[in-house]
Amino acid sequence: MIGNKTEYLNAIDRASEFIAASCSSKPQICIVLGSGLGKLASLCEIDKEIPYTDIPGFPVSTAPGHAGRLYIAEVSGKRCYMLGGRFHYYEGYDPEIITFYVRVMARLGVKTLVLTNAAGGILECGEVPCLMIIEDHISFLAESPLRGANLDAFGVRFPDQTHVYDQEYIGMLEECADTLGINVLKGIYAYTRGPQYETPAEIRALKTLGADAVGMSTVPEAIAASHCGMRVAAVSCISNLAAGISKTPLSEEEVLQMADRISNDDCALIKEFIKRL
Ligand code: HPA
Repeated sequence: MIGNKTEYLNAIDRASEFIAASCSSKPQICIVLGSGLGKLASLCEIDKEIPYTDIPGFPVSTAPGHAGRLYIAEVSGKRCYMLGGRFHYYEGYDPEIITFYVRVMARLGVKTLVLTNAAGGILECGEVPCLMIIEDHISFLAESPLRGANLDAFGVRFPDQTHVYDQEYIGMLEECADTLGINVLKGIYAYTRGPQYETPAEIRALKTLGADAVGMSTVPEAIAASHCGMRVAAVSCISNLAAGISKTPLSEEEVLQMADRISNDDCALIKEFIKRL
């Protein structure tokens, strides 16, 4: 928690002013490089690279494989911000810190947020790894990033959540996958706070609730982005079958290995999507 809401808003202003002063362009797209998409940074032209530690008030990313850098890059001919590393509840961050960057991006004029992650598969996906477009989420058991005094400058107190994930973007992602010949599923992502993976009983409960995949990120950011009026697209790399469905114990090594195995498809899908924006 950064003091009170006034201090939080001031911190957002300081971070966005710093970033704006460090780059000459004004990207309207922000891509978050979750597990499986880290490679995208090496596939595009980077104009500028800013370590998070240089940005005033920015949290530090401690998750494995998260570079802790903000890139300004040309992706499929479009200037984008790319976040090499995000922030998670399991790292000890409050939801408002997890979503700090989203509000900084909103201040900078970003209109489209592209979120990617690794997730456990609950749905019948045949084979892992595979990709899933997030249609909706389940997160009512987790603390909201909108808790506390409302940030009126960003959005309303009780935001509608009917379409957190932009309907047109979901269709576009499906078309991109079709064009590229990549098999992509569509489904509901359940947010858990981690860091422990779920128990088989929890997975059965989530399945009953309608979840297709489960993971420890993305949702706080999607909620904050929709609160700000940003359009959100999100893709999960299903890196493993969820606990109890998988025949073997879950491990971080498996998640990272599988995410890496599908990273070419993940990067191609996101690049094609950015091209069509
Ligand atoms: N559960 C939660 N988060 C995850 C998983 C999982 O099975 N796989 C990758 N991230």
